[in-house]
Amino acid sequence: MTDPYPLTMGQQFGRRSWAEPWKIKMVEPLRMTSRGERERAIAEAGYNTFLLKSEDVYIDLLTDSGTSAMSDRQWAGMMLGDEAYAGSRNFYNLEDAVRMHYGYKHVLPTHQGRGAEHLISRAAIKQGQYIPGNMYFTTTRLHQELAGGVFVDVIVDEAHDPASRHPFKGDVDLNKLEALVKREGAERIAYVSLAGTVNMAGGQPVSMANLRALRALCDRHGIKIYLDATRMVENAFFIQEREPGWADWSVAAILKEFCNCTDGAWMSAKKDNLVNIGGWLAVNDDELFEELRNLVVVYEGLHTYGGLAGRDMEAMAIGIAESVRDDHIRARIGQVRYLGELLTDWNIPIVQPVGGHAIFLDARRFYPQLAQVKFPAQTLAAELYLDSGIRSMERGIASAGRDPKTGDHYYPKLELTRLTIPRRVYTQAHMDVVAESVKAVHDAREQARGLEIVYEPKYLRFFQARFRRLQD
Ligand SMILES: Cc1ncc(COP(=O)(O)O)c(C=O)c1O
Repeated sequence: MTDPYPLTMGQQFGRRSWAEPWKIKMVEPLRMTSRGERERAIAEAGYNTFLLKSEDVYIDLLTDSGTSAMSDRQWAGMMLGDEAYAGSRNFYNLEDAVRMHYGYKHVLPTHQGRGAEHLISRAAIKQGQYIPGNMYFTTTRLHQELAGGVFVDVIVDEAHDPASRHPFKGDVDLNKLEALVKREGAERIAYVSLAGTVNMAGGQPVSMANLRALRALCDRHGIKIYLDATRMVENAFFIQEREPGWADWSVAAILKEFCNCTDGAWMSAKKDNLVNIGGWLAVNDDELFEELRNLVVVYEGLHTYGGLAGRDMEAMAIGIAESVRDDHIRARIGQVRYLGELLTDWNIPIVQPVGGHAIFLDARRFYPQLAQVKFPAQTLAAELYLDSGIRSMERGIASAGRDPKTGDHYYPKLELTRLTIPRRVYTQAHMDVVAESVKAVHDAREQARGLEIVYEPKYLRFFQARFRRLQD
């Protein structure tokens, strides 16, 4: 018998509901489009959601990068921009915030994450060296390759299995790393490139225990660990929630403890740090910092602005302090999880467990009739847009690109479509609309025929590639 009273989501899932620790002060109207308008728009965009115009999008889940809503404090901070060329007071506020919450000694601002990736790759990789990491990220691996390095995936096998419920699918497989060190010699390892959480695996976290064991292994061989801290606050939340012994620690304290076990970090502040543009690079080693401080002048800007306006650095400093608050991160991940619970309830194949920043639809199981060369995840992104104007992103064969040696596609095990949730932007009702649209596309899944690629640029092809719809 059905319950005569509608249940709240909290009641349905046996818990008390939570709500966001903020209220809305300003709104941005959204435009809805007709099916005909969307058909024209996606065809013009070559079936690539990156090439859609934002005004043709209803709910934009392309990325959580630079799409956060800033707080009233951050906007107030923008008015305090000290736009001096050198020595802006906002730089020192940023430096203090990174030192206080991430704990590193030296800090450089960069225009965004890939600016920092470029500098660390140039400074720390010698031609032909290996960079083992817990799964690749597109821009990170490309900068490592452009610096003459070879990326080696040493993530645990569970990360490649979308159905595995392993709580820390971002962990490094220490046996794989040890085998690489034995085979190649420690001097041929530039550093370990560790990401917390792992974007391409579905926003999956690294455990503190794994990091500590990794630290011990690297210390035995004299290898450095550099952290992609882009979503490390989200990672810290998962440690607090899932890893025995950490429940009584604040997210801020866990974050600092984690960073303390690494030698430095690069950051796309457009994610965790709640700003629309910005990044930073931080290291402990004095000599390496000297080199980076020199390089930043060549590629980004003076070491006290690194390609940013003073106001951007101020917003970032305030965003860092807001981002490490337990109530903020609980609501952020809670909203992602809410969408995941709806989809799981409707038997939609998604990566489990739900990660920190996004729901990843498993396009292989969604479209079992499509071979990977027919771009199932790209197809799914296009179909979702056609159904409702929701914009998502491919994270499969198109994103993986081509092997620079053979010229053939990389064939990643994961073929995913990412519904990325911007921070503090959409409501629970928007999540309902998204879930219903995914269900409608799933109901019509047998009609999908896939795509073929008709244009691809040399680097990071997924951003600008164009596709054609296959008829059969
Ligand atoms: C894990 C990770 N690292 C690095 C980057 C690159 O940062 P940015 O886009 O700011 O250049 C991103 C961006 O999506 C990311 O998700």
